[in-house]
Amino acid sequence: MQHQNPIFIPGPTNTPDVIKAAMNVSNFDHRAPDFADDYIPLLNDLKKVFKTETGQVLLFSATGTGGWEGAISNTLCAGDKVLIARYGMFIQRSIYLSQPFGLDVEVVECEWGTGAPVEEFAHRLRADKKGHIKAVLVTHNETATAVKSDVHGVRKAIDNASHSALLMVDAVSSLASMDFQMDAWGVDIAITGAQKGFMLNTGLAIVGVSPKAMAGTATATLPRCFFDFNDMANANKIGSYPYTPPVQLFNGLRASVSLLLNEGMSNVYARHHRIAEGVRAAVKAWGLELCAHSPELYSDTVTAIMVPEGKDANLITQHAYKAYGVSFGGGLGEMAGKLFRIGHLGAMTDVMVLSGIATAEMVMVDLGYNINLGSGVAAAQSVYRRGV
Ligand SMILES: Cc1ncc(COP(=O)(O)O)c(C=O)c1O
Repeated sequence: MQHQNPIFIPGPTNTPDVIKAAMNVSNFDHRAPDFADDYIPLLNDLKKVFKTETGQVLLFSATGTGGWEGAISNTLCAGDKVLIARYGMFIQRSIYLSQPFGLDVEVVECEWGTGAPVEEFAHRLRADKKGHIKAVLVTHNETATAVKSDVHGVRKAIDNASHSALLMVDAVSSLASMDFQMDAWGVDIAITGAQKGFMLNTGLAIVGVSPKAMAGTATATLPRCFFDFNDMANANKIGSYPYTPPVQLFNGLRASVSLLLNEGMSNVYARHHRIAEGVRAAVKAWGLELCAHSPELYSDTVTAIMVPEGKDANLITQHAYKAYGVSFGGGLGEMAGKLFRIGHLGAMTDVMVLSGIATAEMVMVDLGYNINLGSGVAAAQSVYRRGV
């Protein structure tokens, strides 16, 4: 069933009309002489969203997961060690994704609700005197627990250990919504998909690659074909594409990047922060707890709300959808049934999210939660009101 309501899942996100209209075009010739006139400026503008001047952005017909596969296969060799902390469902997926490539995954087990363990990484990197660790993989915004990690801190840990490991970052649910600085944070590969902060239909893996990561492709022996970074980068140099590009998505991405840059990236981040603060105020008014353990971990794109012992959070998402036609995110992995998530990234406003908060209240009251209707809405309103 398709409802007219906004969706409050942490991706795919709501698509603005201007992006829908941009994608609503017939096929056109990607080998036409003027294809590069739009494509090259698009790639250059994407660098402004990734905040990279030295790196380049590559677009593959895929999703974020394909971007991960490309990151690994282009830079590593079978048997290479990668350092990954397991603190949520999505970083866990990069563990699972590394294993079939024959990588030696060193896993740091962490409590879900915490973020990348910078101190522990620093310790392990310092101990790795022979440089066996070839890459550290981090999820910037762990969508399953609504936890933000200190990516810059991980880079400092690598540098302070005088270590040469690559820093690969899953920025799927943060990039284009939360502050992300590829160059300043020393990120070698940053991965996202079209359907989150870029507000597009699903179908693009959008990958930022640093010069160091690109240079690493020369010695990386893992097999790759479709996701070969050099094939893509070489074609891009002349404004071309190695196979048939999803031109409608490129048109949508053009509209999306223009929307973001016109709003200004710092304003985009501020809007997401304000919206998230309102949602967190609502959660507090309901007397419920966040999954994220402490304020510096709070995500500005999604809020994960623990339900009291004995309650099943899956009933919230089911009832919200069936009774009110509103989608929230459920708990994933070890958080299944224990939390529900309000996604608030992309084309989201204070006023839109108030309807999500109001719906969550109705759902919880319907399900017998001890919550006063309007309490969360009022708390969020006090964050959103501008006055006269
Ligand atoms: C943090 C994170 N990483 C990876 C993924 C997987 O991305 P995709 O579904 O685009 O392959 C998601 C999807 O929700 C995500 O939130």
